[in-house]
Amino acid sequence: MAFTAVVTGATGFVATEICRQLLEKGYNVRGTVRSLASKEKYSHLQALGEALPGVLTLHEADLLAEGSFDDVVKGADFVFHTASPFIREVHDPQKDLVDPAVKGTRNVVQAAVKSKDTVKRIVVTSSFAAVVKSQKGPQNGSLFTEEDWNDESSLDDQPYRFSKTEAEKEAWAISKREGLDLVTINPTFVLGPVVSSRTDATSIILFKDFVENKGADIIPWQVDVRDIGRAHVLAVEVPTASGRYIVSHDSTLSTKYISEVLSERFPQYQFPSGEDAPAKQVLDNSKVQKELGLQLLPAKFTYIDMATTLIQKGIAKPVAK
Ligand SMILES: NC(=O)c1ccc[n+]([C@@H]2O[C@H](COP(=O)([O-])OP(=O)(O)OC[C@H]3O[C@@H](n4cnc5c(N)ncnc54)[C@H](OP(=O)(O)O)[C@@H]3O)[C@@H](O)[C@H]2O)c1
Repeated sequence: MAFTAVVTGATGFVATEICRQLLEKGYNVRGTVRSLASKEKYSHLQALGEALPGVLTLHEADLLAEGSFDDVVKGADFVFHTASPFIREVHDPQKDLVDPAVKGTRNVVQAAVKSKDTVKRIVVTSSFAAVVKSQKGPQNGSLFTEEDWNDESSLDDQPYRFSKTEAEKEAWAISKREGLDLVTINPTFVLGPVVSSRTDATSIILFKDFVENKGADIIPWQVDVRDIGRAHVLAVEVPTASGRYIVSHDSTLSTKYISEVLSERFPQYQFPSGEDAPAKQVLDNSKVQKELGLQLLPAKFTYIDMATTLIQKGIAKPVAK
């Protein structure tokens, strides 16, 4: 019998890819959305549900409402908690970022605890933001590993990183206390092909600007969304998976390299020339490769496939030479 997996924030860039891979593998997927009235946010998921072997159902759940996830998690085999704000315009960091991240994580993890009789494992989409320490550097003095915890960010300084760190800490605290099997995936900046036509994810906004020759503000620590999807699925399918997994290329990638890849693939368009920053190894990505067998896609495919899908969907309008 097919497994049933809950994916929170199913409409998002990362969660859509998780849903796509689960549906491709025949899982029953219960996706949660903020509002079933906002059909434009989830019609791409319905199309995936119709095209792929798995069965998709969509359910309303509110990150801030206690108990909101209890019904949708009931009877599920696995829970993927991905919903969390990753937004560029923050007015009130507590309300806009920390509350939905931390209270949302608490509500979802507690729902899994209440359904411990069926839930075999919960996977929380954390972030490299909960690992990295810009000031202090890695604790081993050379590369960031899963042992590192961001203890520098605060509500006033890098509040997104703070929200992800506090949310992950909350997930570990509850799961340890309650004996729930938890794994976290800690991606760096996620890029790659888009499935929906939405334009409000930070990953999409920044890469769209690049494709439209408007800006080159791409974070140099990167990973492909398909690898992030695979890491999540492997995190439930590999029985021995445990702890945190940094999922990322281990070295920085320059905007000059993105420009070269896109200029070769799309010679008819203009792109920012980018900055020629030398590649620097910043993190150790061996745990996910050794323990889950994940092999990372080369970054050039990430850029080409993201630009292609953005252009095909009419989201990005590249500038002709
Ligand atoms: N993209 C990256 O580079 C990156 C890197 C590391 C970690 N992550 C993590 O990956 C996860 C997904 O990010 P993403 O890039 O896929 O972002 P996204 O496309 O903006 O998706 C975010 C999802 O979270 C939901 N959400 C946001 N705020 C919410 C709130 N207050 N209440 C209920 N739902 C809310 C959104 O719902 P709506 O559809 O209703 O807006 C959406 O489904 C997040 O946990 C993020 O921290 C992302």
